[in-house]
Amino acid sequence: MIYFNGTPALKTNRLTLRKMRMDDTRSAFDHWLSDERISDHRVSPALKTGAETKLRLEKIVNAYDSKEVCHWGIELNDGRDLIGEIDLYDFDLTTGNCEVSYSIGYDWWNKGYGTEALKAVVEFAFTHMNVHKLSAAHNTDNPASGRIMEKAGMKQEGVIRHMIRNAKDQYKDCAVYGLLREEYLLQREGDV
Ligand SMILES: CC(C)(COP(=O)(O)OP(=O)(O)OC[C@H]1O[C@@H](n2cnc3c(N)ncnc32)[C@H](O)[C@@H]1OP(=O)(O)O)[C@@H](O)C(=O)NCCC(=O)NCCS
Repeated sequence: MIYFNGTPALKTNRLTLRKMRMDDTRSAFDHWLSDERISDHRVSPALKTGAETKLRLEKIVNAYDSKEVCHWGIELNDGRDLIGEIDLYDFDLTTGNCEVSYSIGYDWWNKGYGTEALKAVVEFAFTHMNVHKLSAAHNTDNPASGRIMEKAGMKQEGVIRHMIRNAKDQYKDCAVYGLLREEYLLQREGDV
């Protein structure tokens, strides 16, 4: 059984994962939502206008009324820049399983922030929400995403051909990753 806690703030060494706010519209647009280098690896297309971004954020912010929504903005502790987002979604109440997805703005790639955010959300999902299994998938031409899944302890389970069609009508093969709570707890014991 999943215990829903909404979207509480999560602190790491360099990041604060927190609820998104309407005054994040500018940063979200400039830092990742308008950038095709990000959207090419996601299903939704890059946004073209501030108005579209406002609508996207309104949807996220209004959804916080439900405790079953886990959608964080990723903020740097140093300087308070909002550099990306990460969410848990597709909760399956029968299995206790869910999915995770994330984006980090291009200017902040390869500095370890994606891994730091994903590890925090993995810990939250297993230790606070009692999630049974966490899954994610990345396009095979986006190995950086697979790398952060590995660094967060997830295991590749296979490749699904033409799993998605992106906004540019390109079919993409996706590598599927998963982590069971029991595996996570064993890994954590090993870290101590
Ligand atoms: C995937 C993403 C979140 C990674 O964020 P990040 O902050 O750059 O991640 P990190 O810095 O923690 O780690 C990146 C890792 O990928 C590796 N990497 C980067 N480019 C790579 C490439 N072309 N091939 C293989 N590994 C690569 C880095 O070397 C690093 O691994 P290391 O620490 O072992 O050296 C970011 O690239 C992103 O937002 N991409 C677009 C959106 C996206 O792909 N979302 C996920 C959809 S499934």
